[in-house]
Amino acid sequence: MQRRHFIKLTSLGSGALFTGGAATAFLAGCKKDYRMGLQTKPVPVTEAAFTNPLVYPAQAGATQTLTAQATTANVKGNTIPVLGYQPNCMLGPTFRVNRGDNVSVQLQNRLAEHTNIHWHGLVVPPLMDGHPDQLAEAGGNFFYQFTINQRAGMSWYHPHPHGMTGKQVFQGLAGVFIINDAEEAALNLPSGQYELPLVLQDKRITPGGIPYDPSMEEVMAGYMGESVLVNGVHAPFAEVATRYYRLRILNGSNARIYNLALSNNDDLVIIGNDGGLLKTPAPVKEILLTPGERLDVLVNFKNAAVGTTVNLISKEFSNAGDAQGKQAFQIMQFKVTTAATDGFTVPAGLSAIPDLQASAATPTRVFEISNAMEHHGVPMNNGMRMRHRINGNLYDGNRIDILVARSTQEVWVFDNSKGDEPHPMHLHGVFFQVLKRTGGRSGLLPSEKGWKDTVLVMPGEVVHIIVPFGAVTGRFVFHCHNLEHEDDGMMLQYQLT
Ligand code: C2O
Ligand code: CU
Ligand code: CU
Repeated sequence: MQRRHFIKLTSLGSGALFTGGAATAFLAGCKKDYRMGLQTKPVPVTEAAFTNPLVYPAQAGATQTLTAQATTANVKGNTIPVLGYQPNCMLGPTFRVNRGDNVSVQLQNRLAEHTNIHWHGLVVPPLMDGHPDQLAEAGGNFFYQFTINQRAGMSWYHPHPHGMTGKQVFQGLAGVFIINDAEEAALNLPSGQYELPLVLQDKRITPGGIPYDPSMEEVMAGYMGESVLVNGVHAPFAEVATRYYRLRILNGSNARIYNLALSNNDDLVIIGNDGGLLKTPAPVKEILLTPGERLDVLVNFKNAAVGTTVNLISKEFSNAGDAQGKQAFQIMQFKVTTAATDGFTVPAGLSAIPDLQASAATPTRVFEISNAMEHHGVPMNNGMRMRHRINGNLYDGNRIDILVARSTQEVWVFDNSKGDEPHPMHLHGVFFQVLKRTGGRSGLLPSEKGWKDTVLVMPGEVVHIIVPFGAVTGRFVFHCHNLEHEDDGMMLQYQLT
């Protein structure tokens, strides 16, 4: 519905407008040609000297008011219009709560359009989850109340009104939600000034604001920006001491995937991901982070001399479609300013996590996410434009796509084997484990062990996950977390019965 208004039909390339049967005939069997010149392109990242100090959003406790509003923020030297959950900044406050806490959040919608909040990574009742049909109308409110009944980890929150999620997130609405528990506290991980939440988001920054107006190509590739912000700051620096730090990284971008590394090639020691701590630490030199995913890493600046700098960078990566991974770029800088010693050593064991296993009796569902049936099925709703679907379906809030018996396990298979775009697939209401990946990168990343809520399925890949569904009844959505794909309809509903 609203979607139509966002999509500019300006980019049809060759200009050959065709309809119905002719399109079907033309498109049958030609994989690249079906897009008619809608070859997607990368959006180059603009780097800058690291002259802006990193900042952190205000902290929130278990009781909080969030006021979605048009406000302003200072970005790249200009005060520009943005959306925020509090005045004068883009990101909402960072929640920090303990397992067992009761959370009460009053969302006041002071936007001119509806919105809501999805608690991405929190397992909350269906009516508290920010389902696209649970909305606060313009000028209205929505009261969220739930109990934290899950292990420590870093989650986040963002709007989820169907067709408008991409715009509202891109223009500034998002925030971090950290849960602490006793198991994590016992590890004595670096904390306080040594624990840095880092929200990575690429945006288009103009003196007039953050435009969001995707063309057809930009719906295909996802909407990317030239400016990579960390906690809302472009090209920031943080001063650090020669000791261990805990970086808690969220990819809050609409579509951009990062391949994170340190400029001095030191290890990123992965200790956690979407669902909290891993079983054991995993040192890596680089690691992919897709929209929606979180990474908990330890970095030791002990080998960096005082007076030197270490940059967090994104390296090139391959097989991620036409628009991603083509450029290496700098994200932020750590200026090593202080000598320090810490007695910290990385614990050999972090957490106990059961390995879920599928049996022959475990129900298995396959989800075709290649969007390849499109060239056999054109025209569907819109003969000129490919739409992003799951199993051939666009999101329809009035249709339940999948019925699942509550408290049962299922294997879900995301099949992108015929596709040419990356799809970060995300389930609401549950954490899953990744069983295997075939095709493409075949195999799992160290960050894909443990509990996940989002998994990247690259072109050519088939990813199997095992999902231990919750004990509640009700409806949840699952979708591609490329927000342009999601808004385009790449989202279905499952109902627990
Ligand atoms: Cu972070 Cu339904 O998404
Ligand atoms: Cu979510
Ligand atoms: Cu997608």
